[in-house]
Amino acid sequence: MFNLEQFIADCRAALKADSSHKSVREVVARAVSDPAGVLKGLGEPKRAEVQKLYHAPDLTILNVIWAPMMTVMPHNHLMWAVIGIYSGREDNVFWRRLPDNHRRVEAAGARSLCVGDAEPLGHNIIHSVTNPIPRLTGAIHVYGGDFFAAHRSEWDAETLLEGRFDAERALRRFEEANETYKHFAS
Ligand SMILES: [Fe+2]
Repeated sequence: MFNLEQFIADCRAALKADSSHKSVREVVARAVSDPAGVLKGLGEPKRAEVQKLYHAPDLTILNVIWAPMMTVMPHNHLMWAVIGIYSGREDNVFWRRLPDNHRRVEAAGARSLCVGDAEPLGHNIIHSVTNPIPRLTGAIHVYGGDFFAAHRSEWDAETLLEGRFDAERALRRFEEANETYKHFAS
């Protein structure tokens, strides 16, 4: 069964051995290879939210639960990340800056993530995330830095122009999604 303290210790040891995402990715892959164990260890997803599981200057571990059909706008992290899916699905669209307008992005690729996938994201990745299924999706997100302190960007969903990442607005999106989900559920 998934043990959070052990998982944190394993991530810390992996980071010490290798400051890139490679060793941490193996730790995440091992965890989500037993999705039932993660569900037991973290609990069944009940509502859309971001749970802080561990937070240090060089490592952040989140339990991200996406509402059904929820989408977050393109954003960067400015640190590597590993996303491990233990329930549901995540579709990631990857974006790149336009060569002639660095404030604007265009879609550059996509990756569909399923239960058991552990996807590494590079330092400079810009991505948006959609939960494409009509139930909650649960994912462990590990970041190679202080996720909450970085001065990041997000891109407007309509204009695709760069703006400053607003953490409170991002968290509010989860609450709004819960409201929407209530309507779906009733
Ligand atoms: Fe992200």
